[in-house]
Amino acid sequence: MRILGIETSCDETSAGVVDDGRQVRSNVVASQIPVHRRFGGVVPEIASRQHVMTITGVIRQALADAGSSWREVDAVAVTVGPGLSGSLLVGINFAKGAALATGAKLLAVNHIEAHVLSVWLSSVASAGPAPDLPLVALVASGGHTELILVDAPGEYRRLGQTRDDAAGEAYDKVARLLGMEYPGGPAIEEAARVTDSEGLSLPRAWLPGTHDFSFSGLKTAVARLVREGEANGDAEPDGRHKRLIAQAFQQSVVDVLCTKLLAAVEETGACSAAIVGGVANNSALREAATQRLNVPLHLPEPGLSSDNGAMIAGAAYWNPVEAPLNVEPQPSLQLGEASA
Ligand code: KG4
Ligand code: ZN
Repeated sequence: MRILGIETSCDETSAGVVDDGRQVRSNVVASQIPVHRRFGGVVPEIASRQHVMTITGVIRQALADAGSSWREVDAVAVTVGPGLSGSLLVGINFAKGAALATGAKLLAVNHIEAHVLSVWLSSVASAGPAPDLPLVALVASGGHTELILVDAPGEYRRLGQTRDDAAGEAYDKVARLLGMEYPGGPAIEEAARVTDSEGLSLPRAWLPGTHDFSFSGLKTAVARLVREGEANGDAEPDGRHKRLIAQAFQQSVVDVLCTKLLAAVEETGACSAAIVGGVANNSALREAATQRLNVPLHLPEPGLSSDNGAMIAGAAYWNPVEAPLNVEPQPSLQLGEASA
């Protein structure tokens, strides 16, 4: 079954073609990051307009890269939430039009579910076996930080979630405090590559007895260090003070994310784990989790961690939800029942 997936929930206009829920035939991502960078974050109104301008070209390219015509597309899948409503609307309306015009099915996809199922995707025809279930997925992106227990595609339990900022959001806010560019993840990861730490350590919010996260205290601690550094004249020309802060911040985030993922795997007796979403690009996180987990760890292939259309097509295969033609954006959609 061939599915065209469309993703416009935030600041990437993307489309991908996936066969049978696993084989990625194409994945075209038009990132709006350069447009939003000078505002230090995503501006919703600008995001929707950008989606309108680029979506047609992105979808044409995704079909061309896949060597596919519209006639070979069995279903058009689209993100219906969560995300920015004006942005979601652009993808949804395009998908509706395409389904109407071509007779393909219209499938509605939860963006968080698509991140979770992104580890099922492979760019090679001979994909290895699918992850063993149950699996615990750490979803860490700019909008979400959640631990999801996957019993089967379509059957999810939300074990924990952030009580304030998402992990990626914390990266973005801390980068801003340190005078670094949006998005903060790659900028901080790069700055954090200092050889020694000089013992600088930042707090970790463990929230004992829960699988929840909190990153706002960490952000406040960074803000205090930056202020103190400025008052003490620590802002050396080579930016060493800021690099040490970036390193301590990343160590704190990685430690919390890994420890909580490990605890969730142990408590549920899951057979495997996954880290998905934009923060899964982070090599320090990947390395720490690979070392610390004692079950197989699944990571999305390159290009499939950040928002993309292929993951939308993949999720629609594993959990096909047919959408009526009047389907609407669901900006606050969640994934899975919360744990008691
Ligand atoms: O999944 P994603 O592309 O979009 C959302 O659904 O939010 O995630 C974007 C987030 C941003 O906050 C960005 O700073 C973060 O992922 N990110 C990273 C890295 N690359 C992107 N965070 C840490 N390290 C990275 N290398
Ligand atoms: Zn995302």
